[in-house]
Amino acid sequence: MNTQGKPVTSLAAVAYEAGKPLSLEEITVDVPKAHEVRIQIKKTAICHTDAYTLSGADPEGSFPCILGHEGAGIVESVGEGVTNVKPGDHVVALYTAECGKCKFCRSGKTNLCGAVRATQGKGVMPDGTSRFKNKNGEPLLHFMGCSTFSEYTVVADVSVVAVDPTAPLESACLLGCGVTTGYGAAVKTADVQKGDTVAIFGAGTVGLSVAQGAKARGASQIILIDINDSKKKYMNEFGATAYINPTKDLKEDETIVSKLIEMTGGGLDFTFDCTGNVKVMRDALESCHKGWGVSVVIGVAASGQEISTRPFQLVTGRIWKGSAFGGIKGRSEMGGLVKDYQKGSLKVDEFITNRRPFVEIDEGFRDLHTGDSLRTVLTFN
Ligand SMILES: NC(=O)c1ccc[n+]([C@@H]2O[C@H](COP(=O)([O-])OP(=O)(O)OC[C@H]3O[C@@H](n4cnc5c(N)ncnc54)[C@H](O)[C@@H]3O)[C@@H](O)[C@H]2O)c1
Ligand SMILES: [Zn+2]
Ligand SMILES: [Zn+2]
Repeated sequence: MNTQGKPVTSLAAVAYEAGKPLSLEEITVDVPKAHEVRIQIKKTAICHTDAYTLSGADPEGSFPCILGHEGAGIVESVGEGVTNVKPGDHVVALYTAECGKCKFCRSGKTNLCGAVRATQGKGVMPDGTSRFKNKNGEPLLHFMGCSTFSEYTVVADVSVVAVDPTAPLESACLLGCGVTTGYGAAVKTADVQKGDTVAIFGAGTVGLSVAQGAKARGASQIILIDINDSKKKYMNEFGATAYINPTKDLKEDETIVSKLIEMTGGGLDFTFDCTGNVKVMRDALESCHKGWGVSVVIGVAASGQEISTRPFQLVTGRIWKGSAFGGIKGRSEMGGLVKDYQKGSLKVDEFITNRRPFVEIDEGFRDLHTGDSLRTVLTFN
């Protein structure tokens, strides 16, 4: 059936209100306008950030909306002026756009892009309107420029990249957020070098992918810190050399900071927060080596939270920085990541702990909070 140029009916999970269950329903997805791409999503995973926005903790979350930002599918049709993808292409949606022309893109210093930032934050397409409406004709907002919890979605052309069609879409979708974020934070943002010592707070998909990046660079120690022991079984697979559960593995007079400083003879070369907890962010900074240790904030903290430390920590040479999407430029660097995955040097499938049909999305959200689960991939059929 040729759907090009016509609105399409699509199964979607609509988030009507923060803290309320998702509503599975048929929505209408409009025709892509100029510089827009309509994608038939085949696979989407659930990231912690979707759960965070759905919970209401995200001050910028607007409802009703269609969540989801780790997704891959096939281009169904394109609007006028789209040249980077064509119908039939296998693609990954990008919440960090890359236009190549704005001040950010031209700077060579960041992967952030200003092209669609303002409208993306408001949940609309660059022309200020939505392509989604429900049965009553009410518009539904977009999310992170992706909205992959819908069988069909519309994204800006700067927010999508074509990938090798021989790569499975269920693997490609994970490169749309968690795996790339952690791996990039290690190899790009931190630029870990051979022999460096690394500590990672939070052994979820993001943290374990930091570990695989550090391992790829030849780090000498890769210490995972997590309050959940059921993640320990992943440590060898992703290259960690030690695992500490601070709620039970510390002696009475020890703190996680003193323990890490002792284990590394003075502190870490690099630490990463992959929890979103601001107290953990402080511990991560303070366990860095005096003079040069770098701590990278990746976790997204709840609304209103602030970080703190004594300024002396910075005066004495520790560096605090952050990373979005691992510093990776989605359109120019995704192809390389897919190649690394295909060569076997970047683990992706190892993060898939659950597979479900899309209609089980609620159970998928529940998986996020259960024991040893990393990523749940949902399939549209
Ligand atoms: N900056 C970005 O671009 C970006 C991208 C993706 C995700 N994130 C954020 O990164 C974080 C991790 O994402 P994820 O998908 O791996 O989440 P996840 O929930 O799978 O993993 C988080 C891990 O942290 C552990 N943890 C929680 N509190 C802890 C504490 N006090 N001390 C030690 N460990 C603790 C949990 O047990 C869990 O294993 C989230 O905050 C997410 O929103 C940021
Ligand atoms: Zn994410
Ligand atoms: Zn740009």
